[in-house]
Amino acid sequence: MDKTKKKGRYDRIYKQLEELVGKSDHSISRMATVTAVLHHKLEYFFWTGFYLLKDGKLLVGPYQGPVACQELEKGKGVCWAGINRKETIVVPDVHQFPDHIACDSRSKSEIVVPLRNEKGEILGVLDVDSSELGSFDEVDAEWLEKILRLVYSR
Ligand code: SME
Repeated sequence: MDKTKKKGRYDRIYKQLEELVGKSDHSISRMATVTAVLHHKLEYFFWTGFYLLKDGKLLVGPYQGPVACQELEKGKGVCWAGINRKETIVVPDVHQFPDHIACDSRSKSEIVVPLRNEKGEILGVLDVDSSELGSFDEVDAEWLEKILRLVYSR
């Protein structure tokens, strides 16, 4: 999708999500709403969901798309890299990423964005996969970071 179209799409999605998350302050409900809206409004989103830290493990949270791994092997893959580096990671070709964890062989590119609470602590990540190469860029990174700030906003 070209960048202008993508920006327009995210702008509308953000406004819709801003209104929707205001209806509940429960973080899991908000994450579920975020995944549903993103997944159905952006057709290149093949798998859209959260992996959440619990007792040192990274476990799947609310998601949309094909059945995914429930737990990610510690220290491996893009999601753990996002947690450890504390930053958004864009992977244009998952086969070029060392230790990439393939929950579904159709996934070809990926973006992982850390999820932070109101204190800035990292609680998990949003992971989005595409079945095409090179689907994600700085526009996705910027907007998904902004959208994730809605999860713990007051
Ligand atoms: N590819 C991820 C694992 C999660 S699935 O893509 C849904 C990773 O390497 O961490």
